[in-house]
Amino acid sequence: MNDDFQNRVAAAMANPQNMGELPNADAIGTVGNADCGDMLRVWVKFKEQGGRKVIDRASFQSFGCETAIAAASLAMELIKGKTASEALAMRGEEFAKDLGPLPPTKVHCTSLVEGALREALAPVSDAGGPGPIAQPAVTAPTTLMDAFNKPEEKKAGVKVVFLKPANDGGLSSRA
Ligand code: FES
Repeated sequence: MNDDFQNRVAAAMANPQNMGELPNADAIGTVGNADCGDMLRVWVKFKEQGGRKVIDRASFQSFGCETAIAAASLAMELIKGKTASEALAMRGEEFAKDLGPLPPTKVHCTSLVEGALREALAPVSDAGGPGPIAQPAVTAPTTLMDAFNKPEEKKAGVKVVFLKPANDGGLSSRA
């Protein structure tokens, strides 16, 4: 893995943006990668702007590698001001473009970000905009592990979607 990529990931990790639960989110998406075991959850909040429902804020929590966290941090900023459909049109590579070219073993890390956003935003987009979406109660304590263990979330139907295995030649690298 080249030094330039590692330096960019390290810089993003030094000051990650939008980490943590977003109270009163309009949409939530959680995905996991069965190959590497990493997981990511995103929260999205909309606002009305110029007659359109656009993303006001988005945040994430991750049991993931540094690349996934860095890409998620960048993605939460990039989707601000976009509609659900516009954000859904973005791909993992776009979210991570500030990290530079991704090593082949790291491409799936950005797919985790894309997948979590798809889980959160697709129902909103299909419904024509954020409406009264059924959401699990997301109250403190607020770590992803706590959330997975809360019985009320299980009852509310929170699910983890596992992405299809990546053919990226190996997942052992954690940078
Ligand atoms: Fe699995 Fe990065 S998300 S190693």
